[in-house]
Amino acid sequence: MSKMKAVIPAAGLGTRFLPATKAMPKEMLPVVDKPAIQYVVEEAVSAGIDDILVIIGRNKNAISDHFDSVPELEVRLQQKGDHGRLERVMKSSDLADIHFVRQGEPKGLGHAVLRARTHVGDSSFAVLLGDDLIDERDPLLTEMIAAHERTGAAVIALMQVPAESIHLYGVAATDGDDADGAVRVTGLVEKPSAGDAPSDLAVIGRYVLPPAVFEVLERTQPGKGGEIQLTDALQELATDPDGPGVVGVVFRGRRYDTGDRVDYIKAIVQLAVDRDDLGADLRPWLKDFAGGL
Ligand code: UTP
Repeated sequence: MSKMKAVIPAAGLGTRFLPATKAMPKEMLPVVDKPAIQYVVEEAVSAGIDDILVIIGRNKNAISDHFDSVPELEVRLQQKGDHGRLERVMKSSDLADIHFVRQGEPKGLGHAVLRARTHVGDSSFAVLLGDDLIDERDPLLTEMIAAHERTGAAVIALMQVPAESIHLYGVAATDGDDADGAVRVTGLVEKPSAGDAPSDLAVIGRYVLPPAVFEVLERTQPGKGGEIQLTDALQELATDPDGPGVVGVVFRGRRYDTGDRVDYIKAIVQLAVDRDDLGADLRPWLKDFAGGL
């Protein structure tokens, strides 16, 4: 087991999903039959992490409840002899050592990450956004942890996105490929217009950060949208010649942004089609449905 801790920011307002997120965090929206955040916790566990801090906000008690055990439900399933469901229900409370801290006000992703400082201490740590799913068949975090161990740099995950979507992301300027498939990041811009974007490489929701990022975040001023942006702190690390620097691991696998409505629907369809228990019923229906469009 790696000693690295993981931080999952899940304190955003989820305005794109209103009214569903009025009283429920978007990280609890079900993707097939598991809330999005459980996939993210399972991904961290698969990468060898067993200590996870979730940053929660208003209406986020559902998240901590989900990772608690529910004895009355377990007893009921046991009595009914429903061992499959019992196992699945117990799994979420048995995954890892999960801690929670409140963000108070959602002042931005950088501010959320800074709330992890006391728990993380003076060690490198992973950040996994609670609404961003990486398919378990395409391990990314393990590769990022290896890149961090090799370089000591802050490691970000990058993905090529089409020009029409680039304004939705932080975007990296890089200086080409190195031998290990990681690129040196020379600068970062939060949500640029297509004309101002330094590349087509967008920052997606996985990071492996050195503790030096906390000092930078302490003095990072609100940026785009009046929020304290993690991208702005990483831009400072990328351009500081005396600091650890930033490298990017370019991801070419399957990723689902469940905070976006269309991507959320795609995630459910893609993951359900591939499931042994659902795919056989769903595939012919989908073909028929698509044929009628
Ligand atoms: P997003 O920008 O996707 O989340 O943040 P949001 O603000 O909730 O979304 P919309 O645009 O209003 O629909 C990315 C991740 O960072 C977390 C979010 O919960 C999400 O997992 N976040 C964002 C925080 O924890 N705190 C913040 O202040 C902002």
